Amino acid sequence: MCGIVGILGNIEVAPRLTDALKRLEYRGYDSAGIATLENGKLARSRAEGKLRNLEARIASHPVGGAAGIGHTRWATHGGPSVINAHPHMAGRVAVVHNGIIENYLELRAEVTANGAVITSETDTEVVAHLVNALLDKGLSPVDAVEVVLPRLHGAFALAFLFEGEEDLLIGARKGSPLAVGHGEGEMFLGSDAIALSPFTDRVTYLDEGDWAVLTRSGVTIRDSNNAVVSRPEAKSSVTAALMDKGNYRHFMAKEIHEQPEVLGHTLSRYIDLGNSRVKVPGAEAVDFSKLNRIIISACGTAYLAGLVAKYWFEKYARLPVEIDIASEFRYRETPVANGEFALFISQSGETADTLASLRYCKENGATIGAVVNVPESTIARESDVVFQTIAGPEIGVASTKAFTCQLAVLASLALHAGRQRGVLSEAQEKDLVAALGSIPGLAVQALKCETSIEALALPLSRVSDALYLGRGTNFPLALEGALKLKELSYIHAEGYAAGELKHGPIALIDENMPVFVIAPHDSIYEKTVSNMQEVAARGGRIVLITDQKGADASGNAAQNTVILPNVPEIAAPIIYALPIQMIAYHTAVFMGTDVDQPRNLAKSVTVE
Ligand code: AGP
Repeated sequence: MCGIVGILGNIEVAPRLTDALKRLEYRGYDSAGIATLENGKLARSRAEGKLRNLEARIASHPVGGAAGIGHTRWATHGGPSVINAHPHMAGRVAVVHNGIIENYLELRAEVTANGAVITSETDTEVVAHLVNALLDKGLSPVDAVEVVLPRLHGAFALAFLFEGEEDLLIGARKGSPLAVGHGEGEMFLGSDAIALSPFTDRVTYLDEGDWAVLTRSGVTIRDSNNAVVSRPEAKSSVTAALMDKGNYRHFMAKEIHEQPEVLGHTLSRYIDLGNSRVKVPGAEAVDFSKLNRIIISACGTAYLAGLVAKYWFEKYARLPVEIDIASEFRYRETPVANGEFALFISQSGETADTLASLRYCKENGATIGAVVNVPESTIARESDVVFQTIAGPEIGVASTKAFTCQLAVLASLALHAGRQRGVLSEAQEKDLVAALGSIPGLAVQALKCETSIEALALPLSRVSDALYLGRGTNFPLALEGALKLKELSYIHAEGYAAGELKHGPIALIDENMPVFVIAPHDSIYEKTVSNMQEVAARGGRIVLITDQKGADASGNAAQNTVILPNVPEIAAPIIYALPIQMIAYHTAVFMGTDVDQPRNLAKSVTVE
């Protein structure tokens, strides 16, 4: 996902732009650039690859001025290259863009027919030509943008800078987030509060369809009908401190180790340990006793959190769950009845497929719930009720603390639903709340297995395939373990339901195939151990992730065993997520991949 920043400042803008872009690196990118107004003239610097390449370019070819725009690009139309890097320029216009302009081909034909010379493969460049053509006809920058915006179809956020306009920035959002930052005699634009965090914590989030005209003295916001509107100014929750790695080598390592703390923050919002009750803020928006099912949709790791929640809603609330990945759900035309409850899970709150699925359900009359980590995100703003995770900004592209906090919220919600449906007794609630309350402490203990996991990672970093097995709520964890290993170390990995092994995947087993078996000593442990022995009998290299009881009962089937503390069943998916995160992390470190920004990945996929 691309990152946008704009500054109307009073000091040298180039270093401020690159500093802000560094805070957007977590979104994933493959090129970057800035444009400034130097004595009223547009100046530009762009580079492929990491920001250090752009900084080197700027050092050798400085661009001056106090106003500018910057961009980190995650390639969509046109590969990663300098000519495709933003900002794109045409005449007196420079523009940066996050998203996709779906009708750019017809617009490109129009501008080229009018004599424009297209220099890149991007959809963005066409926007600069469209606006510049209107400037050439005598329109003001504001009027030109007002004319062009409705012509752009798709999902995008834009920021414009204009030659000769030292005190003007224009920003627009339609499907991709954009925020205005308020300074002292300075004004800013950014994709999110994180981009603005070096300059201000006073933030105004644009609504869908809004566009904003900034001068150093303030901002005028217009809605999609060009009516002047006011949007609230919020105090951003992101501080610069949150954005540092501390004494960790990677953000991912920091975020893995933040889990005990942020799980505590999240759980304290949803359980009342003193009274042994769940207390889910906002849950009064849903009458679970009247539901015949819950619909859940999400992507990637967030989807896997939903898959775990399926087991919980069905077990503790006796409520069937219809769950699907959002990229499929959004096109399935699933029957959704008026008054149903649909729950969407998203760390960023901006994932395009998840948002589209939300809108489908909303159009069909469902009550919309969202489990998000970014309260001002689009998914949050379009939901009827938000169940926020209190994980803090998750910078590493691979989701870790957000995932376990999502599980904490979903477990609390499932217990709340069970109580409201009268299928969970007060005594059961008391025990289960106590179990949830033990999670932060258990997480601290579980993180102590990191040394033994690091020892595993070196041999693992030399394999080309791996298999993860689990049963019950450990099955989605097997899928998550495989996803983590894939996205961080680029090793092909598959997660499978342990019981499915003999229906095909067992053909893969040989001494070169590490098999991770996720199996706390629970009610189905024996079943999983027999699957494990099937693997051992064929020479498979087993890593068993279990507790002491499980280790004692596993025979000698496993070459390696990671022993976790004994945990209550409902806590297992959260606690067992920690070792699978660390396995992927340390393997990636040994392999030297870009742990916080793995290749080809973006932190939030705001395009289809
Ligand atoms: C998780 O490690 C991945 N980076 C990815 O699958 C992610 O979970 C997915 O893109 C959904 O993102 P969201 O939670 O922001 O919607």
